[in-house]
Amino acid sequence: MKVLYAVSEAKPFIASGGLGDVAGSLPAALRLRLIGCRVVLPLYDGIPQKYKDNMKFITHITVPVSWRRQYCGIFESKLNGVIYYFIDNQYYFKRQGIYGHYDDAERFAFFSRAVLEIIPYIDFKPDVINCNDWQTALVPVYYSRYYATREGFENIKTVFTIHNIQYQGKYGHEVLGDVAGFAEEDAPLLENDGCVNFMKGAIECANAVTTVSPTYANEILDPWYAFGLDSILSERKWKLHGILNGIDTVTNDPAADPALPAHFSAEEPENKAVCKASLQKELGLPENPDVPLVAMVSRLVAHKGFDLVKCVLEEFITTENVQVAVLGTGEWQYETFFNEMAAKYPDKVGVRIAFNSELASRMYAGSDIFLMPSKSEPCGLAQMFALRYGSIPVVRATGGLRDTVQDSGMNEGNGFVFEDYNAHDMLHALRRAVHGYEDKEGWAILRKRAMECDNSWGKSANEYIRLYKNLIKQ
Ligand code: GLC
Repeated sequence: MKVLYAVSEAKPFIASGGLGDVAGSLPAALRLRLIGCRVVLPLYDGIPQKYKDNMKFITHITVPVSWRRQYCGIFESKLNGVIYYFIDNQYYFKRQGIYGHYDDAERFAFFSRAVLEIIPYIDFKPDVINCNDWQTALVPVYYSRYYATREGFENIKTVFTIHNIQYQGKYGHEVLGDVAGFAEEDAPLLENDGCVNFMKGAIECANAVTTVSPTYANEILDPWYAFGLDSILSERKWKLHGILNGIDTVTNDPAADPALPAHFSAEEPENKAVCKASLQKELGLPENPDVPLVAMVSRLVAHKGFDLVKCVLEEFITTENVQVAVLGTGEWQYETFFNEMAAKYPDKVGVRIAFNSELASRMYAGSDIFLMPSKSEPCGLAQMFALRYGSIPVVRATGGLRDTVQDSGMNEGNGFVFEDYNAHDMLHALRRAVHGYEDKEGWAILRKRAMECDNSWGKSANEYIRLYKNLIKQ
């Protein structure tokens, strides 16, 4: 079986969030299970030169963008056994930053069209194209409208994976013809609420729609979570599947991670204390092994639950003997809030407003408790990293957080969970964790159980394979 994985970011080349982690690890996991999987992504300027140096030019073609044709260079590179194709067009991709440009609709319509146009030139005729998020959402639409009956393109199945339903690729009607190149009669496929909506098009046209956890697959049928796509998803529920993400357990391993000052594992956890002391020092906090250290590593945006944190953080740190560490960038109101807290309570709060994956590893390894109170969380990877590095997650029961963290109240489970999106419910869960930490023996057992949770790709990669096989049979 051959799968072409079309995506707008992939680690280690370039990433802005969890999508890059998934695209950097799922294809290798599929290949381990003897599934041919190659990845296609844009050749951004921001990809480090050392990776560009290893790319081989294959050929160049032109790709239709509505009534125009644009240059498309095809490059190839192999990393950890996976073949990657890079789509080159300097006008679209030689820019700072990967998203957020005024013409993103055109940039990703071009990219989506290129994913299909390169197929005759890459010596890899896929059985399945798995697209991801709005940036590649037009692939299933183009395929069903223009390619399905074209010679050399027959019998390809398309899968569309939703990593976050909030970002849909919504534009005005003018984008339909002049940018995306569709006819007026195609409008009903793409239109939703009076906008051209790329994600809606994919939900209509893909053979299967997946999202990144079983709970989120249910949640997005509900208007509270679906940002206007609940009714179309409910109509197409028969093709919706929730498959939990996994993490790359080789590069994210506390026993080998080069970013850490010392290494440890579930069997030999002693050096976690070294990581904790070193993190306390790095953040300018008192080096004290007995004070529980609570970490947050996240984009500082509202849906990650920071309004709850803002509401009760001061109450928490003034009534409990704790330290709090924060790493992330995002909305100004949260950045300022955390900086103010750090200035007011320098012995209790350490803050780094930055995006730094090495420090993120040290935060997972050096903290005891990991707070993730998201309002919505399609899957969430940070709680899986935290578990693996022995930091006990405190989470709200939503999306992938519900599917990966079970409350340890009954001497089972791997974390602390609260249900309602409410600041004092969160505070109560945090307090249960902090008091749990006082029982050293019980905590060691909980931590071992957490570290032994298997969040590698194994089971989920098999679920993708089962889905692909069922589609091919149809
Ligand atoms: C998005 C989601 C996150 C998920 C990631 C990878 O970033 O917000 O929950 O883990 O995609 O699928």
